[in-house]
Amino acid sequence: HQEKTKVKNIQVIELGKYEIDTWYYSPYPEPFATQHKLFLCEFCLKYFRKRKTLLRHLAKCEPLHPPGDEIYRSPPASHERGERPNPAAPATTLSVFEVDGRKSKVYCQSLCLLSKLFLDHKTLYYDVDPFLFYVLCECDSDGHHIVGYFSKEKHSSEGYNLACILSLPPYQRNGYGKFLITFSYELSKKEAKVGTPERPLSDLGNVSYRSYWTRKILQTLHDQGINLSIKDISELTCIRTDDIVTSLQSLNLIKYWKGDHIIAVTHRAVEDHVRSIEDSRFIEVDASRLHWEPYT
Ligand code: COA
Ligand code: NA
Repeated sequence: HQEKTKVKNIQVIELGKYEIDTWYYSPYPEPFATQHKLFLCEFCLKYFRKRKTLLRHLAKCEPLHPPGDEIYRSPPASHERGERPNPAAPATTLSVFEVDGRKSKVYCQSLCLLSKLFLDHKTLYYDVDPFLFYVLCECDSDGHHIVGYFSKEKHSSEGYNLACILSLPPYQRNGYGKFLITFSYELSKKEAKVGTPERPLSDLGNVSYRSYWTRKILQTLHDQGINLSIKDISELTCIRTDDIVTSLQSLNLIKYWKGDHIIAVTHRAVEDHVRSIEDSRFIEVDASRLHWEPYT
């Protein structure tokens, strides 16, 4: 696609308390496209050429969260409950909003423009109508601060449960990418459908999915026993069978026997793997706090 070859235009954006260096070209309209720096409202994602204009906008921008429905709110963070901070848990309450591309067109287009600054290979969806956007926020008394999102087709004939995923750079490497991936599979569970992300994945997308799949597969073998079949694991996790096969192949835990893939693990190997991922950051999705019905 043409956008890929275009030279990066906007070099830096200001969003909430962060100044963020951009990675790639994004087709913001003129006169914004030719600015060195853009100033974004962290709540409605409207963009400005001058901080002064942004500040004027912020004085009257409401609400202080994404449009749509809040479908998930994490338990309050430990320090908010007056407990000792838990290094394995996020420092603030997390919320996820479901935003309908048809109902909140301008917001979703602005979200796509923002995310294109950090994605080089996806063609940008100007037509946001067929998508739902799941926007993750950190919440405090100043409002809901956007951390990242994923998009999902309302109807995917290919069985995709995620189209695009982004953690904004200041929030990366804290487990939020895997949280969003976990969330996408929790939605698949509610739909009672296996799912897979749209291809191609970026390098960072690939690393994140590999990590998620490995963790889920090994956790399942650990919790439910090593005699499970690939199909059993797929039914329990909603991970597509070929994603399970490639994950197990990269761990060398699968054999091909008389035309079938057979999981070849020992208790010991499962224990070792489970222990080796224990220190990687992982934020659980508490499914009992997810208030969501499949799109109809
Ligand atoms: N270099 C190496 N590894 C990295 C990395 C980096 N820059 N950033 C993240 N990772 C690894 C993490 O260490 C983690 O691996 P682990 O579970 O084995 O520890 C894994 O990737 C996921 O990290 P996590 O913190 O859960 O994800 P994230 O919040 O950093 O978000 C993306 C991951 C892919 C969403 C984020 O990198 C991003 O938005 N990239 C730009 C957009 C993109 O490429 N999207 C995917 C294409 S559709
Ligand atoms: Na970080």
